[in-house]
Amino acid sequence: VPVDPFDLVIFGGTGDLARRKLLPALYHRDQDGQFSDDSRIVAVSRQDMSDEQYAQWVREVLEEHLPDKELDNEVFSRFQSRLAHIQLDVDDEAGWKAFSERFDDNGRIRAFYLATAPSLFGKIANGVADAGLVDDRARIVLEKPVGHDYESAREINDAVGARFAESQIYRIDHYLGKETVQNLIALRFGNSLFEPVWGRQAVDNVQITVAESLGVDERFDFYEATGALRDMVQNHMLQLLCLAAMEPPASMNHDDVRNEKIKVLRSLKPITPQEVHKVTARGQYAAGMIDGKAVPAYGAANKKEQAPAEDAEAETFVAIKAEIDNWRWQGVPFYLRTGKRMARKSSQIVVEFKPVPHSIFGEEPLQPNRLVLRLQPEEGVEMSIMTKEPGPGGFRMRSLPLNLSFSQAFEVAYPDAYERLLMEVLRGNPALFMRRDEVEAGWQWIDRILESWRLEQVEAQEYMAGSWGPTDAFVLLDRDGRRWHDN
Ligand code: BG6
Repeated sequence: VPVDPFDLVIFGGTGDLARRKLLPALYHRDQDGQFSDDSRIVAVSRQDMSDEQYAQWVREVLEEHLPDKELDNEVFSRFQSRLAHIQLDVDDEAGWKAFSERFDDNGRIRAFYLATAPSLFGKIANGVADAGLVDDRARIVLEKPVGHDYESAREINDAVGARFAESQIYRIDHYLGKETVQNLIALRFGNSLFEPVWGRQAVDNVQITVAESLGVDERFDFYEATGALRDMVQNHMLQLLCLAAMEPPASMNHDDVRNEKIKVLRSLKPITPQEVHKVTARGQYAAGMIDGKAVPAYGAANKKEQAPAEDAEAETFVAIKAEIDNWRWQGVPFYLRTGKRMARKSSQIVVEFKPVPHSIFGEEPLQPNRLVLRLQPEEGVEMSIMTKEPGPGGFRMRSLPLNLSFSQAFEVAYPDAYERLLMEVLRGNPALFMRRDEVEAGWQWIDRILESWRLEQVEAQEYMAGSWGPTDAFVLLDRDGRRWHDN
C-alpha cells in the first residue's frame, strides 16, 4: 500500500550515507510501488547542482550501489521525476529563504532526514522551523551519532526538542531495522520455551559480537575523532544488549518496548577507573591479512600524511564485560565485543547456559548448551545440544547443533534496514527508533568508560588485521574462566 504523499528532504543529500544506503533503499521502495505519484525526494547539500545534474549523479550512484547492479530504466525514470536538489549553506540566512520557497503548502508529509554532522542538527531544526515548514505532520530523522558524549547529546536533544515534539523525532539506530534483530524479539516473546531459562538461574553468560572485516579506510578523520566505543557500542551494541536482556514488554507498542529497554540501560553497572583495565579491552588494528589479501594498518588510512600516522589514537576494537544490576541478571556477565578488520564479518548473540549440575557420564566431557542468534551474515538460530555418538562401545557424548537458517526457511531477500526504517518514518511509527532518554542513558554509561580510559591512560593495543582482536580481549574472559565463541 503506498504511503501518503510526502516530501522527504535529505540534508547531506550527496554524502556517503545517501549514496550507500538512503538512495538505494528509496529506489527499492519506489520499485515496489510504495510511493504515491506526487511524492518527492529533495536532496540538500552545499554543492551547486541542478535537479538534472543531481538525477544524473543518482543514476551513477545506483548503478554502483544497487546489490544486483541492475537499474531498471522504467523504475528509474519514475524515481528520477521525484528528485530535486537544493544548494544550501545552513549558516546562510538568504539561503534558507530560497530554500523555503521550494516548498508550497501542499498538505504532504514533510520528513527532514539529517544525514549530516551532529553539530548541525540544532541549526537545521531551527532553519526548517523558522522557514515555516514544521507542522503537526512534519518529522525529523537524526542519523547517529546523536552527539559525542552525554552533554552534547543533551544539547542536541534540547535544540531539536525546542522545535519538534518528541513524537516527531526519529533517532536512527539502523540495527533496529535489521530483520534478524527483530527476530530476537520474536524468538524471546513468541515462544514459551525460552522465558523460564532466560536469566541468572540457567544462563552462565551472554556474548554479543559485532565483527567487521572492513577497515576504516577513507573515514580515518571521523574514526580518529570517534573510536569504536562511540561508533558501535553506544548505539548498536547497547541496543542488542537491551533487546536480549529486557523484561517482556506489555505489547509491541513503541513506548512499551522502549520503557523496558531504558530499564536495562539504567541498570548497567557503571565502569570505574579502578576496574577499567580488568573489564575493558581497547584495540587498534595493525597490518595483516584478510581473505588472503594484505591490508594496511589503521594509521595508514590517514591520507593527510605521507607516511602512516604513528600516533593514531582511536580504538578500532572494544571488548567490555558489562553487568546488569537487576534481579534477572545478577551475576551473569554480558561480554560485548566489536572491531574492524577482524577475521570476518560476523554478528551474533551467544547465550551460554550453565553446565549440568552433576554428570552421570564419568570422565566424558560435556559442553554447556549454547543458543546462538546469528544476525549477519547467514541469519539464523542455532542451539547446541549434547548427544550420544552412535556405536556399541561406551557412552561417547558429542555437542551437535540444531540449526535454523532463515534464508532456507524463507525464500525472500531481506530488505536493507534502511528500507524499513525510512518507511516507518513516512508511516509515522517510532517503535524502531531511539527515544531521548535511551540515547542519553547510553551516553552516561559510555562517558564513564571514556573517562576511566583517560584517567588510567588505557591505550589501544595493537591486533593483527584478520585476527579476533588484541590479547587483552582474550585475557578479559580468561580471567573469568571463560572463552569467546567465535562461531
Ligand atoms: C555504522 C558504523 O553505524 O555501522 C560503521 O558507523 C559500521 O562504522 C556500520 O561499519 C556497521 O553496519 P552493518 O549494518 O554493516 O553491520
